[in-house]
This record gives sequence, structure tokens and C-alpha cells, in this order.
Amino acid sequence: MKIAIMGFGTVGSGVGEILMNSFDNLAKKAGEKIEVKYILDLRDFPDSPYDCFIKDYNIILNDPEIEAVIEAMGGTVPAYEFTKKLLLAGKHVVTSNKELVARHGTELLQIAAEKNINYLFEASVGGGIPIIKPLINSLTGDDITGIVGILNGTTNYILTQMIKNGKTFRAALSEAQEKGYAEKDPTADVEGIDTCRKIAILASLAYGKYVDSNFIPTEGITKITPEDAKYAQAMGYSVKIVGQCVKDGNGVYARVCPAFISSESPLAGIDDVFNGILVQGDSLGDVMFYGKGAGKLPTASAMVADLVDVAKHRNTHIRILWAESEEGYLHDGSKQKYSYYLRVSGAAEGFEEYAAKKLPGLENEFAVIVPPVSEAELEELLKSSPFDGHEILGKIRVI
Ligand code: HSE
Repeated sequence: MKIAIMGFGTVGSGVGEILMNSFDNLAKKAGEKIEVKYILDLRDFPDSPYDCFIKDYNIILNDPEIEAVIEAMGGTVPAYEFTKKLLLAGKHVVTSNKELVARHGTELLQIAAEKNINYLFEASVGGGIPIIKPLINSLTGDDITGIVGILNGTTNYILTQMIKNGKTFRAALSEAQEKGYAEKDPTADVEGIDTCRKIAILASLAYGKYVDSNFIPTEGITKITPEDAKYAQAMGYSVKIVGQCVKDGNGVYARVCPAFISSESPLAGIDDVFNGILVQGDSLGDVMFYGKGAGKLPTASAMVADLVDVAKHRNTHIRILWAESEEGYLHDGSKQKYSYYLRVSGAAEGFEEYAAKKLPGLENEFAVIVPPVSEAELEELLKSSPFDGHEILGKIRVI
């Protein structure tokens, strides 16, 4: 099978490396050799062992020998146009591009179905962790009731380095960038946008209907303070950025937010670049997926696996249920009930029922956890006794 790689950055070059180093093994697994015929990138790579670099995308599009294309360009321009044309030309596409899948997945999957080819995107969520295939294959016997995931390697790395190793936000972010975890513009990581795209993809697959990431309430890492982390530890929690989706009647809730996670949860101990995705099925119960969620080779590994899958399904479209959704399908997140950790100013008298927690070194303040409430109910609670007159210094959902 002759293929092309579009984009030879961190992930694309990782795919090239695996395809070259594991050429014979992959040929055995796929049932045929997978040969890289072209690599599309505007840059030059004089030291690369490959000598098939091109700068004109049309060469790939118009070459009938190319059956599958790796899209590791990132972003939607020109990746959307390129991918659409390739699919319409009957070429399979494998991508790690979560932005593109989250935005145009419905249309691109529909074209793949019509053309009886495949648009596969295992690498778009959780880096090297198999989560897409389990959702569309292994877990189809279950109705998925909810998913909670630590889905961004960069922010999990930063949080771990800040909380456990006392590093500054800047130093930890620089390290994540050096290690190839962060997006080109790390704002997408830090502000939760990357997690948002990933939970949108998981929710669209889990319930078979498109969830638009543009409407998912999203908060990033900048909402978490060192004091929150100290309270979390003292109260038996880890503090993480999570993506969550929950089935709610005929619709879904979805959200990205900082979260207090009980130390008893399998998600609590997931540190550094690792991602963890906890899926709740109605028959199976909880199932947990864990592994490296970012980085060159982990992400490339998932793309190569998709490529092998393409080789095995040359003339078959692997059915992926991801339909258009009706208006209102994504439910109003403000109504979803959560327990909250609250960091409160002043003295803790009157807060006995909330088992207020005080920490040495943090004078004239304390923390409590309140039982599940909607956003409107929380607002009311904070206006009433004993909260009225106290300033809320921090507020994080308990998940
Ligand atoms: N920037 C992403 C992360 C890369 O840190 O998780 C993997 O999608």
C-alpha cells in the first residue's frame, strides 16, 4: 500500500520513523508492505532518511497509486480542504487533527461512508491510548452513561510539575513544549480548548450524534491556584483539568473544567503527560484507559495502527455512528448538578455542617465541600447563611 504523509512536524515525522523502523513487522501485521511515496511539507529536511519530500499537495491528490494519506498538519486550513478532496478522490485518510475532527467530523465521516473508504482518527484523542476504537467497537454492547477524562498531556504535565515538584507555571510549560507535548500555540492547551475538542469527539462517538465543541462550557488551568492544590491534597483529592460528558435523557451534558477528583478515583493518580479516560457503561460499569496522551511516538503509534487498519479494510468502510444532532441536543450545562469545593474568606464559625478545613499558613480562610447543586442553586446558597458576608476565593467542581 503506497501512502503519503502530509505534515512532517512532531507527529508526522514520528509516523515516518515508526514506518521505517518497523517496516517488516508492520508488513506482517498489515498483510502487505506500507511504503511512504511522498511527504508533503513546505520546509526542507536535508537530514531525514526519507528523500520523497514534495511541496505540491496536488501530486498526492492526483496520484492513483496513493491509497491512504496521513494528515498530521494540524489546524483546519488547509487540512480541511485537503482532507475533503482526498476523501472525495477515494483515498483513505488517517489523522491526529482533533480540531478538524471536532469541527468537520460529521461531514468528513459521511463522505468516507459514501465513498466506502475510511477516515480514522485514533490519535486525535489521548495520543497513543486506544479509546476511539474501543468506543466504536469493543464497547458497543453498552450504553455509555458518562465519560470523564484527563485529556491534555500539557496541562497535566504542568499541574504535576507545579504541585509535586514546585516548578513555576512558565518553567513547566517550557518543558512541555520542549518535550513536544504542547500545541504550536499552547493557549489551546492552557485554556482547555484542546480538551474541549477531545471531549466533543468522544461524546459524538459515545452517543452517535455530533456535539459541537463551540458550545461546551470550558475553563482551563489558569483557574487553579497553588492554594486550591494545597486544600485538595489536605482534603483527599487531586486537582486536574477534565473533560466530561454525561448522557441526560435525549441529550447530553458536556464540560471542560478544573476538578477535584477523589484520591480513590483511578483518575486521581494520573500525572505528567499521561492521560486517563474513565468510561461508564450501563452493563460493563467503569472501564479505564490510561497511557501517554501526547508526544511524538505515542501519537504516531496510534496513527500507524490506523494505517494498518486501513490496509486490512481496503474495500470496507468501518462504520462509525456520528450523525447530525438536533438543536438543544447539548443540554444547558448550568443546570448540571455538581458538588463544589469552595475556598472561603474569614472564620469558619457556623460552617460545622460542611466540615470546614483550615490549613496552617493560610490564615483567615478555610475550605468546604458543598453537596450537588446547579449553578443557580449555588448562587442562592452563597447568598444565604452561613456563606453570606464571606468572599469566595476559589470554586472548583468535585467530579
Ligand atoms: N497538546 C496536546 C496535549 C497534544 O498536550 O495533550 C496531544 O493531543
